Amino acid sequence: MNESIFILKGNIVYSKSAEELEIIEHGYIVCENGLVQGVYQTLPFAFGGYPVIDYENRLVIPGLTDLHVHAPQYSYRGLGMDMELLEWLETNTFPEEARFSDLEYAREAYKIFVENLKGSATTRACIFATVHREATLLLMDMLEESGLATMVGKVNMDRNCPDYIREGSAKDSALETVEWIKDVRHKKYKHTEPILTPRFTPSCTDALMEKLKMIQTRYQVPLQSHLSENPGEIAWVEQLCPWSEFYGDAYDKFGLFGADCHTVMAHCVYSDDREIQRMKENGVFVAHCPESNMNIASGVAPVRKFLDAGLHIGLGSDVAGGSTESIFAAMAHAIQASKLRWRLQDASLKPLGVEEVFYMSTKGGGEFFGKVGSFEPGYEMDAVVLDDSRLKTPMEMDVKKRLERMVYFSDDREIYAKYVKGARLF
Ligand code: GUN
Ligand code: FE
Repeated sequence: MNESIFILKGNIVYSKSAEELEIIEHGYIVCENGLVQGVYQTLPFAFGGYPVIDYENRLVIPGLTDLHVHAPQYSYRGLGMDMELLEWLETNTFPEEARFSDLEYAREAYKIFVENLKGSATTRACIFATVHREATLLLMDMLEESGLATMVGKVNMDRNCPDYIREGSAKDSALETVEWIKDVRHKKYKHTEPILTPRFTPSCTDALMEKLKMIQTRYQVPLQSHLSENPGEIAWVEQLCPWSEFYGDAYDKFGLFGADCHTVMAHCVYSDDREIQRMKENGVFVAHCPESNMNIASGVAPVRKFLDAGLHIGLGSDVAGGSTESIFAAMAHAIQASKLRWRLQDASLKPLGVEEVFYMSTKGGGEFFGKVGSFEPGYEMDAVVLDDSRLKTPMEMDVKKRLERMVYFSDDREIYAKYVKGARLF
């Protein structure tokens, strides 16, 4: 008997592509050494003696990926949405993020964030912390303890923000970042990784970007940032970087845009064909954050174009631009926003469907972490079991319809069990 093998039984749903769902009713997922060995309608004889956890009529889906979320902003989610991005940052974000210099406050705030993320359907996340090295490490300790698999970034900012949160110089910011990466490496986390996090171009001098590229090359870390979110922001980047061909080029000129640098960019609401083409060439991932884009009136990203161009794309909550960490909510918002874009702005871009948003939140975003977000053989075994019995209806529902209802009106109460890399969290 191989002790590392176990089997989940239930109504299995996953994606191989954005076009269709794979559904196996009352099927089996064989997990071996933390990886999916295979999915079967009838359990092969060879696996007959292994433990089966029978989830009966419940749904079993891959864990969801939140490709973009700000942990310190979780404290004020659902508040202060009556401004656009740049004013919103100055008014709500910077004052709150400054409080994370106080480790006791950080502990209290991050505890709430981590508990709620653990209870959600999210198994993987790309997370912004703040500029503070100690508080970022504390967040990483807590996430490691939770069993979630995450990439977490100490934010870099050396310009265009209040003194109380600005790092002293490009050199200071880079030194802190190196110290932080060394501290992280020393901790030998199993599922918590560092990710370079220049907040966005307006917050980082050219000198800092150059240093971050050196750090990225030296320590081989991935990178996350914001891109083409808001018209005022984009105009500002044109002023700050007159040498750039377009916003994404202002990262690419420093080697911080996909090429030799595993990169995810949030938003891309206003990415034009040149930017899309460069993202495609460089393998940049897009984190589509529809709720945030509505709340702070950024607009609606041309997701259909990204899918047609074959870009890597996943969904992000972008709390606190988004009000909720629920990636099911992000799926519904992505569909709804795409319909408004289609109706009001550009009828050539067909709205998104459930298959497509489910793909983005599982395999599409999961691939930023490697073979993650599907139950195809060799994928890391991240799974979420959903119990939808609370959502009563007299109708007969097939598995696809049950999944569709989860997208539109589930909440944490439906999350019944969760596995990350083959380990059961609850
Ligand atoms: N751009 C730079 N910083 C932020 C942030 O904290 N949230 C969002 N939505 N956009 C940003
Ligand atoms: Fe963001």
